[in-house]
Parts: sequence; structure tokens; C-alpha cells
Amino acid sequence: MEKKETILLGTGEEDILRAAQILQEGGLVAFPTETVYGLGANALDEEAAAKIYAAKGRPSDNPMIVHIGSKEELGGLTDTITEDMERLMEAFWPGPLTMVVPAKSIVPKVTTGGLTTVAVRFPVHPTAQALIKASGIPIAAPSANASGRPSPTEAIHVIDDLNGRIDGVIMGDSCEIGIESTVVDMTEETPAILRPGLLTREQLEKALGKPVAIDPALLEKPDFVRTNQEGQQSRGLEEGLLEGERNLKPKSPGMKYRHYAPKAEMIILRGEPEKVKLAMAEEKMKRAEQGQKVGVIFYDDQDPVRAAHDFFAQLRAFDKTGVDVIFAAALEEDGVGFAVMNRMIKSAGYHIIDV
Ligand code: TXA
Ligand code: MG
Repeated sequence: MEKKETILLGTGEEDILRAAQILQEGGLVAFPTETVYGLGANALDEEAAAKIYAAKGRPSDNPMIVHIGSKEELGGLTDTITEDMERLMEAFWPGPLTMVVPAKSIVPKVTTGGLTTVAVRFPVHPTAQALIKASGIPIAAPSANASGRPSPTEAIHVIDDLNGRIDGVIMGDSCEIGIESTVVDMTEETPAILRPGLLTREQLEKALGKPVAIDPALLEKPDFVRTNQEGQQSRGLEEGLLEGERNLKPKSPGMKYRHYAPKAEMIILRGEPEKVKLAMAEEKMKRAEQGQKVGVIFYDDQDPVRAAHDFFAQLRAFDKTGVDVIFAAALEEDGVGFAVMNRMIKSAGYHIIDV
């Protein structure tokens, strides 16, 4: 890829207009949202949207989320707006909810990853809203990280990954939520969560007044077992496509790739908090004796909302300090904890030790 100059922009009106102009001209601009930073392009311009895959090094069968600036704009992307969709819009838009809906033919295949559906989100972040309004176009925006890396929750993360590969970055504050939106498939009678997020299954069910399914691919774990020198068994994978998901065909194509990976080896310790604490101290000592630099992720209060906010930034901070191995304590897998654990498990390449 040819190296280009990446312009750093503020959140003032003039800079938003400049960013909007870049998007209108088919360029790429990263911008803050309430979840994570997004890498934006004109969703309806095939050439522009294709540039996103190149900049991120992203597989081109991985579809993108289209960001709109009002509920009404949904009608520009789909012909089918069901009562369920109305209910979810009413309850959660603008906000961290993405709905997968049948796509109108004006949405190019590059944007949908070749699917007949399109993922749509109306973000609540004022800068994201201002940018969409100023550009007057729906904006395709995956998370603004290099493919496979932790999602960016601060502008500096975007620069670390994409400087010289995109046209501009709007330098906003750090993202309030810290993990990506809840993705819900609205094309079946029973809506299904394809990617968990801050909005939980319970919240969606309450707004809809009916059950919401969870994509089975989210619950499957690979059968891979590995044994270390001490004979301890754990499950995990080294690199690339997640083995156990190879035959699974998740509805959300993005979920099948190795994701959110820090540079260091990462291991999750799961069990009672007190036991995990002890095991962590032991592992830490062992590794330190081997001359390794150890990072630890432990949420004392077990608060999944705080964990969501901090998790990706912690992985990136450990990368910067050159840690060799990260030990992370598992959270309870319910509510928001389910969403955090979805990321944590992928970051660790399914490497989990039960203590
Ligand atoms: O919070 C977010 O959603 C952030 C911010 C920037 O809005 N965006 C984001 O985009 O996380 P991305 O591309 O990193 O993740 C999009 C997810 C992927 O798992 C993708 O496979 C899924 O949504 N997705 C997109 N379009 C889909 C479709 N038509 N059907 C099923 N899944 C889809
Ligand atoms: Mg992403």
C-alpha cells in the first residue's frame, strides 16, 4: 500500500466539515463513537468502501456496519422495517445496537461482504453524529484497528495501527463503552444476537416482549487441548482462523477470525476469584523466574462494565510495555460479562486454564 499523510483533526465544526469532505471524496476517516473508534468510508461508494479492507488488512468477506444519523435513514438501506425493528430502534437508538436487516440493492456488495443483508447502527456519540450529518451519506465503519488487533478505544490506538494508511483521524476522547456494539440479526422470526455487547439479551427481550436467541457460534468452544510442561491442561489455539469455528459458519462472518490479539501470549485463569488470585501469583512468579515480563488483568470488583471499558486499552498498554505473557482473570459469563468474555477468550486464542 502506498503511504499517505494522515491528517489529525479535532472535533470542532471546521474539522468535522473537513472530515466530511474527505468522506464525500471517497477517502477514509477514523472517528470516535461511544463503543470504539470506527474507520469510516462512504458506504454506498464501492471504491471507497473497498479501501477500508486494504487499510485494515481485513478479509473481504467480513461485512461492515453502516452508520446512519437518524432513525429515518434506515429506510434508505432496507425495504423491510418490522415491528420488532421499530421496538428496538425506539428503545436503543441512538446507541450501541446494530441491526442486521435485508439490504436494498443500492448497498454495494463490498459493504455487505457479499451478503444480502446489511448491518446498521445509529451511534449516540455527538462527533459521530455530527460527521454523518455533515457528510450527508451513510458511513461504513468497522472498528479502526489493523485486522486482528484489539479494537481502538482511544485516538492514539488508531494512529498506532493505521497512520499512513488512511486520510484522517478525528481525535476525540476515549470511548465510553470500550467494546463494540451488540449485533442482532433481525431477518428471522426470532431475533438472534450475533455479537454480544453492552446491551444484553435481557434488555433486548424486555424491549421486544419476546425471546431473543444467541447465535450458536457464540457458545461453541474449540476442542483443542494443550498440556504444558507441568502437565496442566488448557484449551487454546495458536494462530489464524479459530479451529473449532471452521465448520461452524457463524452468521456474523467477522466472528470466525482470530481477533483482538495482543502481541504477548495470553492465558485466561477461570475459577473462584480467591483461587484465581493465588494461581495468578504463582504463575507470575514462575514466569518471572524464567526472565519473562508478566502482565496481569484482574477486576477486583468483578464489574463487567468497567472491564468492558478498560479491556482493549489494557491489552494495548501491555503491548507497549513489551510484556511477554498476560494472565487474565475470567469474569462471570452473564449480562455484560458475556460480552467481555467473548472478547477475552478470542484475545487469548481460547487459551483457558480452569483453576
Ligand atoms: O460498535 C461497533 O459496532 C463498531 C463501531 C465503529 O460502530 N464497529 C464495529 O465494526 O465493531 P466491525 O466491522 O469491527 O464489526 C462488525 C461486525 C462483524 O462481526 C461483522 O461480521 C458483523 O458485524 N456484520 C456486519 N454486517 C453483517 C451482516 N450483514 N450479517 C451478519 N453480520 C454482520
Ligand atoms: Mg472489529
